[in-house]
Amino acid sequence: MVLNDPAFYRDRYPHYAALRAKAPVLPVPFGGSEAGAVVVTGHQEAREALAGAALSKDTTAYFADKESDRELHPAIARNLLTTDPPEHTRLRRLVTRAFTTATVQRLRPAIEALARKLTADWAPGREVDLIEGLAAPLPVTVICELLGVPEADRDAIGVWSAELFVTGDHTRIDAASHALAAYMAGLIAAKRSRPDGALISGLIAARDGVDAPLDEHELLSLAILLLVAGHETTTAAIGNGVLALLRHPGAWQALLADRGRVPAAVDELLRYDAPVSIATWRWAPAATVLGGQPVPAGRPVFVCPGAANRDPARFPDPDRLDLDRPDAAAHLSFGHGVHRCLGAPLAHAELEITLRVLLERFPGMRLAGPAEELTWRHSRLFRGLTALPVLP
Ligand code: HEM
Repeated sequence: MVLNDPAFYRDRYPHYAALRAKAPVLPVPFGGSEAGAVVVTGHQEAREALAGAALSKDTTAYFADKESDRELHPAIARNLLTTDPPEHTRLRRLVTRAFTTATVQRLRPAIEALARKLTADWAPGREVDLIEGLAAPLPVTVICELLGVPEADRDAIGVWSAELFVTGDHTRIDAASHALAAYMAGLIAAKRSRPDGALISGLIAARDGVDAPLDEHELLSLAILLLVAGHETTTAAIGNGVLALLRHPGAWQALLADRGRVPAAVDELLRYDAPVSIATWRWAPAATVLGGQPVPAGRPVFVCPGAANRDPARFPDPDRLDLDRPDAAAHLSFGHGVHRCLGAPLAHAELEITLRVLLERFPGMRLAGPAEELTWRHSRLFRGLTALPVLP
C-alpha cells in the first residue's frame, strides 16, 4: 500500500493523483488485512465523507473488539476528535463558548511581538533553520498563552508534543501521554484555586458552573487536545507556506509589492500544501455508500485533504500555486463538517502575521539549498518539513 512507501512521504501529490485516477473513493489493502481500508481523494467525495453522519470518529468503539497493547492515557485517547454527536455537540459548544473570535483578536499583538522576537537576531545571508527558530516555537508559545500555561513549563510541553506526534514509537507516545496528562491535571488544580483570564480557567468555569456540563475527564481531555492540536499543525503550515513562496519567487515578489494580499495568500498556501494531509481516523459502523462506492461495515476510511485540495475537478490546474485563485478558501485543510478545525481563525492569524513579519524584515529571503533535498516527516497525518534552512 502506498501509505507504507517512503517515496510517498517525499512527494505525496503524484501518488494522490494516481489513486484519484483509479477512483476518488478507492478500497486499498491496509494493516495486513484483506479487508483493508478506503481512501478518499476527490474533493466532492471528501466533503461528503467529512460532513455526512455515515462515518464515525469513535475510536473506542472501533478498537473495542481488537487486541491492543497500547497504554495511551484515556484523556488523550478519547476527546472531541474521537466522539460523535450528540456527545461531540455538547463538548464543542462548551469549548467554542470559551474560544471566540475576540480571543483570537486579543492574541494578534502577542503573535506579532513573538514573531519579531524569534527572528530578532536573524541576519541577512546567515543561514537559519526556519522550523527550529520560528515555525516550531511560535505556535507552542501562542497556544500556551491562550490556555494560560506558565512560561517556565513551555519547553516541557514542546517535548511531550513532539514525543506524541513526531516519534511514531508507541511506547514513547504512551509514556508522553501519561506525563502530559499528569502535568495538565496539576495545572487545572492550580487554576481552580487561582483562576486567570485564560482558556483553561474559562473551561473550568464551564465545568464548575451551575449546570456542571463538563466532567473532570472531559475537561482534562479538552485542555490537552487544544494544547496539541494547535501545535504541530501550525508548525507544518508555516514551514510548508514559506517553502512554497520561496520556491515561487514571483509569488513572494507579489506579496512584497502588496502586503494586503497576504490574508488571501494564506488560503492558497493552505490549499497548495495541506499540513494535515490525511484526516484523523474515521470508520463505517454500518455499510454505507460514499461517492457512489459501497463501503462495507467496519472499514476504516482515510479522507485526504491533501489530495482533495489538488482535485482538478474542483481547482483548475491544481498543482500550480496561484495567489489569484478566486476560490482557494474552498480547500479542506481545516477539514469540514462538525469536526472542522476549531482553531482555524487562530491558525490563519498566526500564518498571516508570520508571513507579514518575514516579508517586512527579510525581503530577500531564499532557500539555503535545493528544495529537493529537504526532508519530510514520516507521518500519515501530517505533511511537514523536519527542517527548513533559509538565508534570511
Ligand atoms: C494551520 C494549522 C491547523 C490545521 C491545518 C488544522 C487542521 C485541522 C483539521 C483538518 C481538523 C479536522 C480533523 C478531522 O476531521 O479529521 C482539525 C480539528 C481540530 N483543530 Fe485544527 N488545525 C490547525 C490549527 C489548530 C489550532 C491553532 C487549534 C487550537 C487552538 C486547533 C484545534 C483543533 C481542534 C480542537 C480540533 C477538533 C475539532 C472537533 O473535533 O470538533 N487546530 N484541525
